[in-house]
Amino acid sequence: GKVRAPTHIISTISDDRGEEPCYAGVPMSSIVEQGYGIGDVISLLWFKRSLPGYCTQFIEICIMLCADHGPCVSGAHNTMVTARAGKDLVSSLVSGLLTIGPRFGGAIDDAARYFKDAYDRGLSPYEFVEGMKKKGIRVPGIGHRIKRGDNRDKRVELLQKFARTHFPSVKYMEYAVQVENYTLSKANNLVLNVDGAIGSLFLDLLAGSGMFSKQEIDEIVEIGYLNGLFVLARSIGLIGHTFDQKRLKQPLYRHPWEDVLYTK
Ligand code: ACO
Ligand code: LMR
Repeated sequence: GKVRAPTHIISTISDDRGEEPCYAGVPMSSIVEQGYGIGDVISLLWFKRSLPGYCTQFIEICIMLCADHGPCVSGAHNTMVTARAGKDLVSSLVSGLLTIGPRFGGAIDDAARYFKDAYDRGLSPYEFVEGMKKKGIRVPGIGHRIKRGDNRDKRVELLQKFARTHFPSVKYMEYAVQVENYTLSKANNLVLNVDGAIGSLFLDLLAGSGMFSKQEIDEIVEIGYLNGLFVLARSIGLIGHTFDQKRLKQPLYRHPWEDVLYTK
């Protein structure tokens, strides 16, 4: 048999050694000629397989809807301040990206983890939410600074509408909606947010597409692939905010004294 020296690196998603680079075995020419989109490329490089059209379309909708949310959110604010400090594109971008985490945009994986665990264990929304409260953990995917029960997040509605029309099953999402109904009965700001919508719907995508084994789904949820969707999406907006500040020749940002409570 073949004997080869042990390697220091193992890689399984792409290969650039042949005539043309391949993503998960699919050559670049097929990607272009068969009209693949960004959702297909994400499927190949993240999930190592081609996914059905409704899945790749859902991924693309997530990317489009999360690309930006105005200048006032944590990420855009950091990026703008950094750009105005004269820093370059990459510095401005990563400064914004570094705010993505458990409170802002990076609650998708935990939402998927907690909703999956609660649904699979058959917990009622009451048992789930009150159990989290006892543990002192805020429910990931629930709550928003400006969205309310009577002013829902349009992004969530659009994702739900797409999934209800195209997914074979939306059981995790319907569970998240039941959780939202319960949390809204406690406070008007405890809506299902875009992280919670993507987290629960991606569980439905993974479970309903028939493309993943149970073990693979557990691994995806455990490793935490899904915050990657927000990171990727929001990079588009953060890059835009960097260009905008530079185009507008905005000066160094300094926060006004009047907006600080100086106290002992
Ligand atoms: N689960 C349970 N109770 C909650 C939650 C939640 N997710 N969010 C707020 N509350 C309750 C708590 O009682 C909280 O009081 P506490 O500070 O004693 O815990 C009370 O509401 C008021 O909370 P605020 O801090 O005033 O709410 P705020 O508007 O600052 O928080 C936030 C918004 C950060 C999104 C919050 O709801 C949260 O942590 N949610 C979970 C994380 C999450 O899903 N983040 C993604 C948001 S969407 C996005 O960034 C794209
Ligand atoms: C966002 O997508 O950035 C938001 O949902 C967060 C916010 O505070 O609006």
